[in-house]
Order: sequence, then C-alpha cells, then structure tokens
Amino acid sequence: MDQNLSDQKSSSPMNQMNLRRLRQNPAIRELVTQYRVSVDQLIQPLFAVDGISHREAVPGLTGTYRETPESLLKMVEQDLEAGVRKFILFGVPRQKGENSFSGEFTSQQIRALRKRFGKDLFLAVDVCLCSYTSHGQCGILNPEGDHVENSSTVHQLANLALEYASAGADCVAPSDMMDGRIGAIRHALDENQLFSTLIMSYSAKFHSRFYGPFRAAADSAPKGVTSLKDRATYQIDPASPRDAYLSSVRDAEEGADILMVKPGLPYLDVLSDLSKRIEKPWAVYEVSGEFAGIELMAERGLVRGPEAHLEAWTAFLRAGASMIITYGARFASEYMKEIR
Ligand code: PBG
Repeated sequence: MDQNLSDQKSSSPMNQMNLRRLRQNPAIRELVTQYRVSVDQLIQPLFAVDGISHREAVPGLTGTYRETPESLLKMVEQDLEAGVRKFILFGVPRQKGENSFSGEFTSQQIRALRKRFGKDLFLAVDVCLCSYTSHGQCGILNPEGDHVENSSTVHQLANLALEYASAGADCVAPSDMMDGRIGAIRHALDENQLFSTLIMSYSAKFHSRFYGPFRAAADSAPKGVTSLKDRATYQIDPASPRDAYLSSVRDAEEGADILMVKPGLPYLDVLSDLSKRIEKPWAVYEVSGEFAGIELMAERGLVRGPEAHLEAWTAFLRAGASMIITYGARFASEYMKEIR
C-alpha cells in the first residue's frame, strides 16, 4: 500500500474525510476524473499567405507557419495523419485595400482544401478585414480616418462570408466586432440557400494585449497611419464583462450557432459565467500570446510544455467550453503520449 495511506491509517481518525484515497494511483485517478481533453475538441488555426514563395515560421508560435498555397495542403495532410481534422483558416491577401476587398485568394484556398480533402476536414474560415486593409484596422474608415464605419464594414463582411461559404467553408467565423454582422451574414447565407453553413461568432472578444504573435502572422497590426492606434472602439473592454454577455445574447439571437470567448485563460471567469447563462455551444480561443507564453516558459526550462498546455485546455473544459481553438492542436497527441 502507498506509504501515505498507511501513514494516514494510524494517524487520522476514521471519520476524517479521506480525499487522497481517490488520488493514490493513475488507474483510480483516471476513473474519477471529470474532464478529459480529446483531440476531437481542438481546432487548429491555419494561415495562408499570398505572395510568398516559401513558408515562414511565426515568432512565438512553435509549429505554426505562414503557409504558401502549396505548403498549406501539405501541412493539412500531415495534420490529418496526426488525427487533427478541424481547422480555422486565416487568409492573408497581398493586395490590401481601403473600401473594397477581394476574397478571391482566401476562397481559392478553401476550394483547394475542399477539393483535395473532401469532407475529411471541418473547415471554419475567419471573417475580418484586418488582413485585407492597408491600415490594419478591422473595417472601413470614415473620410477623416478616425473612425471605423459600422454599416459599410458589415456589408463587406457579409459579402466575404458569403463568398467563403460558397467556396465550401463549413463555418464562417466573424472576428471583427462590428454591430449587426451576425444578422447580416445569416441573411446573406439564407438568401443564397446556404442553410447548413455554421456561424461561429467571436461574440466575447476582448481588446486584449495577447494578440501580438497573431498580428505578425496575419499582417494585421494597426499600422498607425491614422489617428486610430488600436481596436478599443470595437473590441470589448477587459474591464466590462457585461458587454460580453450583451453581445453574446445578441449574436445568438441574430443567428450564431456557436459563441466564443477570446482570449482564454485571462477570461476564464467570463467563459464560466456566459456558458452557464447562455445555452449555446461555447468555443474558446487560446490566443497567440497565451500559447507563446507557455512555449517561452518551456523553452527556458521553467515549465514542462506538454503538461502546461494540457492543464490550460483542461481549465477551458472546466469553465464550459466544448471546443478549443489552439495553436497546439497539431501537437496534442504527442503531448498526451509524453505525459502517459
Ligand atoms: C482578427 C483576429 C485576431 C485574432 C483572431 N482574429 C486579432 C486581432 O484582433 O488583432 C487573434 C488570434 C490570436 O491572437 O491568436 N480580427
């Protein structure tokens, strides 16, 4: 018998609550555990970049690349072999604009993935303008350049979402944070008989400082060419969780199928609260800065990476997420093997 338990037999009164009995070995711990992360719940982000000749590593995001159209297909093939079959695609066109945008580059990647892999993969596509605009803001600016216009932006977003859905996306995922975009996208999809395309709304997306590595990957940092330096006028203030509730209720009413909290760990309270209050499937986005933080600690020998990643994912399940977008999806099976 385990040393501690026999210790306890002699030293603790019989009626003392003995919680360690159920922790004494892996077999028992496996039987009583309440949450178990599975690769099935993970979604892997993909970046497809127009106009580069070789794929490029993304600082901080181990194993994530800015892919060329060719390397994208190879990467996904490898992921499928590793058991990952759910993806969210970020298309990064070379041609940037201000008022009108072409979704053609992104749509080509969707069609190519669909043609090559058929229904083997679940493909969500991020819908936003920040990789498409010359200034890096998530929408169209007013003539003075100091405000992101809502209605003209929503119009463009709905067109792009429709284009991606027509190209074969299973799910469109608007991350822009304009008002009314879910309703506009659902309307556009319905009008075009695209009744089975899911909408996953980034409904509780905060104005976070943890998006750094992503913005390098997606060419999407605000360029500071206007007086707008950040995204504070449309993303949710970290100190106003009330807004996250209001926009999530609204997005559900406008036709979103899946709601999301983003980032993850710094907003676990929001995820836990909203997933109890709003009966919808909840996604969580473990954003680039969170993932990179764990990787950097692991690199410096301060934590063991696989364990730390799995601990974060377990926390998301505990807080009510049923799916997790993470840069570590493609390593999940490896992590799990290393731990056993
Ligand atoms: C685009 C968008 C962002 C992320 C996903 N979609 C960043 C932003 O608002 O700048 C962040 C993802 C990450 O950090 O991993 N609007």
